Amino acid sequence: MSEKIAIVTGAAGGMGRAFVAALMGDGVKVAGFDIAKDGLAEMQSTLGARFLGLAVDLTDAKAVAAAFDTVEQAFGGVDILVNNAGTCFMSEFPNIPADEFQQQMALNFSTAFYCCQSAVPLMLKRGGVKKIINISSNGAYNFDVFDPPPYRASKAALDTLTKDLARRYARDKICVNSIAPAMTETPLFGVLSDEVLAGAIAQMPHGHAMQPAQIAGWVSFLAGPMGDVSSGNVIILNQGRDVR
Ligand SMILES: NC(=O)c1ccc[n+]([C@@H]2O[C@H](COP(=O)([O-])OP(=O)(O)OC[C@H]3O[C@@H](n4cnc5c(N)ncnc54)[C@H](O)[C@@H]3O)[C@@H](O)[C@H]2O)c1
Repeated sequence: MSEKIAIVTGAAGGMGRAFVAALMGDGVKVAGFDIAKDGLAEMQSTLGARFLGLAVDLTDAKAVAAAFDTVEQAFGGVDILVNNAGTCFMSEFPNIPADEFQQQMALNFSTAFYCCQSAVPLMLKRGGVKKIINISSNGAYNFDVFDPPPYRASKAALDTLTKDLARRYARDKICVNSIAPAMTETPLFGVLSDEVLAGAIAQMPHGHAMQPAQIAGWVSFLAGPMGDVSSGNVIILNQGRDVR
C-alpha cells in the first residue's frame, strides 16, 4: 500500500497536535497548517522530515492554494484532509460586532471551504479511498450550552459542506465526514469564563471534559481503511449528553 499523505489544519492547537500525532502514529506523512509559527517550529523540531509545518493564514484563499502547492511538491499529493482550524468568539447576541461575525464564519467555514477546493483536485489524482474530515461541534446541535449563534451557524455550514461533497464525490472515492465533539480540553477553553466552563463541564455525563487524543482516535479510524465505508455522516462525540 502506498504511503498516505495528510494535511491537518490548526495543527499547532490542542486538537490539531493530537490529530498529527495519531496520523503519524498510523504511518501517515502529515503537513500541518497553522497561523501559529512558533508552535509549528516546535513541532517541526520534534517530528522530523515526515512532518511539514507551514505557517499560513487559512482565511486567505490564495495563501491556502499556495500551501497545497507546496505540499504537492514536497510530498507528492494529498489523501487525507482534516479541516480543524477554528475558534469560538464569545460576544453574546445581539451585541456581536460585524467584524467578529465575519471573522467567525471565515475562520470556521471559509478556511475549510478553501482547503476542500484545493484538496479535491489533488485527491482525484490519487488511488484508493481519500478522506476529508471536518471538525464540527456539538454547538451546531445542542442549544442548552453557551455557544453564540455565529459559532453554531459556522459549524452547521461546515456540516452541510460535508454532505454536499460526500454526495458529489462518492463515486470518486472521496469520503467526507464531520466529527462534532462536545467539551474537549484544549487551549480553546481559555475563551470561556470560569463560570461558563464549569457549567459546561458539569453537563458532561461523565463529569469531566473529553481529551484531544480521544477525538484523534476517531480521526484515525475515519482516515484508515475501516473509514472507507463512511461518508456524509456527522459523528457526535459527547459521552451521550444529548440523547433524548
Ligand atoms: N475544544 C473543544 O471543546 C471543541 C469542541 C468542539 C469543536 N471544537 C473545534 O475543534 C477545532 C480545534 O479547536 P481546539 O480546541 O484545538 O482549539 P485551539 O485554539 O487549541 O486550536 C485552534 C488552532 O487553529 C489555529 N488558527 C486560528 N486561526 C487560524 C488561521 N486564520 N489560519 C490558520 N490557523 C489558524 C490556531 O493557531 C490554533 O492552533 C476548532 O474548529 C473548534 O471549533 C473544539
